[in-house]
Amino acid sequence: MEFFTVRRAKLKDAADIARVRITAWRQSYGGIVPDELLKKLNIEADKLRVEAALADAASKTLRFVVETDGKITGMGACGRAREAADDKRGEIYAIYLLDEAKGQGIGRNLMCEMAEQLAANGYTSLQLNVLERNAPARRFYEKLGGKLVKTGVFKYDGFELPDVTYVWEDIGRLLKAHA
Ligand SMILES: CC(C)(COP(=O)(O)OP(=O)(O)OC[C@H]1O[C@@H](n2cnc3c(N)ncnc32)[C@H](O)[C@@H]1OP(=O)(O)O)[C@@H](O)C(=O)NCCC(=O)NCCS
Repeated sequence: MEFFTVRRAKLKDAADIARVRITAWRQSYGGIVPDELLKKLNIEADKLRVEAALADAASKTLRFVVETDGKITGMGACGRAREAADDKRGEIYAIYLLDEAKGQGIGRNLMCEMAEQLAANGYTSLQLNVLERNAPARRFYEKLGGKLVKTGVFKYDGFELPDVTYVWEDIGRLLKAHA
């Protein structure tokens, strides 16, 4: 396994976060999201969005990067669940690794780091949405004990794609089993 670290994102990471998220979409989402959408993604525009979010002192979103051998190869973001009435419910908003970082335990480590930080911020349970057709990520979440609770629709830039929601009712149990 390569040497890797997971750390909180800094303002200077905005360009790398945008590069990793969009490259990961292109590497992993062929056949899952329309090519038309993948072509439209713009790293420079996304960098500006991420930069503004990282600079926003009022933002409660926790953002992370993964470094492998000094290069950023993964990103994650989490915070309060957007749709849950329960304010103890956290959400993983994003978790993306480049192909070169997959399959080495880094995703599990990043998930657990985010779960740990959510728990430290008072959240007791966790949910996330994943595209219905993203079978590899769904297997990963199921391996980590996520329970499928509902289906929905992911809306992005005018596109509507079926998605599903996984829940971990007890963050503590997730951490105990996998951290
Ligand atoms: C999904 C993702 C975060 C998983 O991270 P990863 O580093 O590749 O996964 P890990 O190596 O930490 O795997 C942890 C466990 O899940 C299992 N797993 C991971 N991917 C799997 C797959 N496609 N099929 C079956 N099991 C899988 C691993 O075998 C491992 O189990 P083990 O401990 O028994 O060996 C990563 O592959 C990724 O970023 N994919 C592309 C982007 C994406 O789809 N993100 C999710 C958006 S909702």
